[in-house]
Amino acid sequence: MVTAPAQTAPVPVVVRVLLDPEWAQTGLVREVRAGLEAVPRRLTPQWLYDERGSELFDRITRLPEYYPTRREREILERHAGDIAVASRATALVELGSGSSEKTRLLLDAFTARGALRWFVPVDVSESTLRRAAADVAAAYPGLAVEAVVADFTAHLDQLPHHGRRLVAFLGGTIGNFAPAARAEFLRAVAHGLEPGEGLLLGTDLVKSADRLIAAYDDSEGITEEFIRNALVVIDRELGATFDPAAFTYVPFWDAREQRMDLRLRSTRRQHVRVPGADLEFDLADGEELHVEISTKFMVDGVRAELDAAGFDVAEVFTDEAGDFALTLAARRA
Ligand code: SAH
Ligand code: AVI
Repeated sequence: MVTAPAQTAPVPVVVRVLLDPEWAQTGLVREVRAGLEAVPRRLTPQWLYDERGSELFDRITRLPEYYPTRREREILERHAGDIAVASRATALVELGSGSSEKTRLLLDAFTARGALRWFVPVDVSESTLRRAAADVAAAYPGLAVEAVVADFTAHLDQLPHHGRRLVAFLGGTIGNFAPAARAEFLRAVAHGLEPGEGLLLGTDLVKSADRLIAAYDDSEGITEEFIRNALVVIDRELGATFDPAAFTYVPFWDAREQRMDLRLRSTRRQHVRVPGADLEFDLADGEELHVEISTKFMVDGVRAELDAAGFDVAEVFTDEAGDFALTLAARRA
């Protein structure tokens, strides 16, 4: 006889949605129109993370060539306890949280100390966020999980405010901002914190061009599909007529700007209509769309940027190979 599995009580997760569908729609339209009319034309990377994009990113993190996730995990495995002790946080706010997989190392260390009470994951990708929040709530029964569907460039001032906070921004996502937007973002994070509250910032470090290019031009073509997905989203959401197959993927290392530059190059002259953004234009044969940048840092540069934004750096942790850094900083009084 088959017996039903024991029922476990559902773990309550509070989910706040700051990105209403209307906002997403108009936000997308505004961004797409501004970007596609700019010279050179660009797309906005946050729109890479629809359901399919989030799944592709998850596969990227497991690729042999894509070292950042593994390196950051290595640092967390070694130093999560130090971070928990140094930050004395009772609330962990994670921006761009995605699957929150590595974050569990922090949650383990914080809950072992017994002081953590709240976990606030924040992401634009609602389905990924809901899944991750429910999984964390089930695994950490004493923790109050309050997930927020939000844009971290727009809604920082509306995030819930509980306890003594540590804001974690992992994965090197800070590198996906252009320099001015990065400075503005760090200032906004500092502005939202009380003096003494913390920021834990993951940054990928400068290394050989070969390794960087391999990490963004993997042999299975997953990263290429992830970048191409930007066109798929605009075609679906705004009825655009981009033919994703009529573009080649162009990933290159920009040594002057110290960043990977990920573009799509049109393989023919094409007329593109974007009815949902009331836009129509010609793309020349060989014209490139700028999709995403991924900036690589030097530890001293990270220190200087955090200092300029109003943080005091407490500690910088790196992996053994020196590929990735996690910087713990406190909002200056
Ligand atoms: N922190 C995870 C995921 C990194 S991928 C890790 O380290 O592996 C980047 C994440 O940021 C994605 O989940 C994406 O949906 C989210 N994201 C991108 N732009 C965002 C924005 N403007 N606001 C909120 N989340 C954003
Ligand atoms: C999320 N972010 C840190 C990734 C990166 O490495 O810049 C996004 C990514 N794009 C292509 N591969 C991974």
